[in-house]
Amino acid sequence: VEDPAYPPILELLRARGVRLVGIPRLDDGPDTEALARLLKRRRIRALYTNTTLQNPTGTTTSATVGRHLVDLAQAHHFAIIEDDIFSELAPEKITPLAAYDDGTHVLHVSSISKTIAPSLRVGYVLVGKAQHAAVIRLKTLSALASSELSERITYGALTQPLYRRHLSSLRRRLGDSQQRVQDTLLANGVELAHRPTSGMFLWGRLPSQASVGRLWQDALQAGVLLAPGESFRTDGRASPWWRFNVAHCEDGALAKFLASARPGDPPGLD
Ligand SMILES: Cc1ncc(COP(=O)(O)O)c(C=O)c1O
Repeated sequence: VEDPAYPPILELLRARGVRLVGIPRLDDGPDTEALARLLKRRRIRALYTNTTLQNPTGTTTSATVGRHLVDLAQAHHFAIIEDDIFSELAPEKITPLAAYDDGTHVLHVSSISKTIAPSLRVGYVLVGKAQHAAVIRLKTLSALASSELSERITYGALTQPLYRRHLSSLRRRLGDSQQRVQDTLLANGVELAHRPTSGMFLWGRLPSQASVGRLWQDALQAGVLLAPGESFRTDGRASPWWRFNVAHCEDGALAKFLASARPGDPPGLD
């Protein structure tokens, strides 16, 4: 699993008894050198990765890294679970990892939660013929039947001409928000690990010396729910990083909190 990664996936895998090993997420995707080193020592069954505008770092996997990951999966016989839920929010078309594969190693997963509505609970998996029956069986076992009503609403939304216009406007608004929120964070001394051009997330380190617990409490009191880096880690180790969701960063509360959380605050108790 890339590290940091989307927390509910980590929880889900842990609940299923999966042993997680973290692969650092770099500016251009999962660290393929670290993965290659791991493969020399251990056999892995699968790699979970969020290709485009990753949650939580905002980074996008480059074509070079994408090809390398698929080569490693084919050479070492492991599956790649490609979560590409943010692909339609990217300003330019990003080639999914599945496109580098011959349909045997990559399971491409996405949904309409970020573009139409999370409450419809409609998503999709693209798999090769070999995994098709197993995926259908698992889907039937875990959800019995999905909601036809939700699927019809989704179909209606996806097939109307307005959908393309909606996507363009969503991308433009998100890209603009990204830049404004980056400016606000930088102006308040936040160090940004990456500088994504779009997408929902930013991964930053606050200038304050206060503990993570203290900052989290202070933020909450100021009306801001901060997402601490440790919840995105495969092993839950302490992390100085925080995830910022740009869609919730522009109502003034965050800027006010950041301005008040100056360096030199006495270290608090967790
Ligand atoms: C990386 C990632 N994968 C999956 C999901 C969940 O998607 P869905 O609502 O379609 O289950 C999210 C939601 O935020 C996400 O950020």
